[in-house]
Amino acid sequence: MDYSQFKTIVLLCIFFFFCCPQAKGSRKYTVCVYNSLPVDSPKLRIHCYSKDNDLGFHVLSSYENFSWSFKFTKWFLARTVFSCHFWWGEKAQEIDVFNEEDNCISDLQITSKTYCQWTTQEDGIYLSNEKGEGYKYISW
Ligand SMILES: *[C@@H]1O[C@H](CO)[C@@H](O)[C@H](O)[C@H]1NC(C)=O
Repeated sequence: MDYSQFKTIVLLCIFFFFCCPQAKGSRKYTVCVYNSLPVDSPKLRIHCYSKDNDLGFHVLSSYENFSWSFKFTKWFLARTVFSCHFWWGEKAQEIDVFNEEDNCISDLQITSKTYCQWTTQEDGIYLSNEKGEGYKYISW
């Protein structure tokens, strides 16, 4: 095998290495932010974004939600990450709301292959999956 054949094989390997995980990872995911804060309290303001996608600023009254769907991509190192900034009165949090295709986030406490819901409550922000299984992720 000469050098140019070797180079072709190396290039093919690199090509498949990068493309195959991408092709497998075309599942659709939905992320939902649900405001379960008291009615007589300030409205929830959110700003969600990924590296390529700014979903804008949204104001949610109690029991309103904001959701979006996307096909996640899984490259070797680069992966889809959505983060959200939450503001409620004086309180604020900024967290990843999606960074792991089987668990929503790499916290690994619940399994969720299609849906994750972030519910804001008085004491913090809760994460749950499509079956309603969930836990308190973070305090305000
Ligand atoms: C989000 O809002 C839509 C439209 O009002 C509603 O159909 C849906 O059930 C809501 N989702 C949640 C999790 O409350």
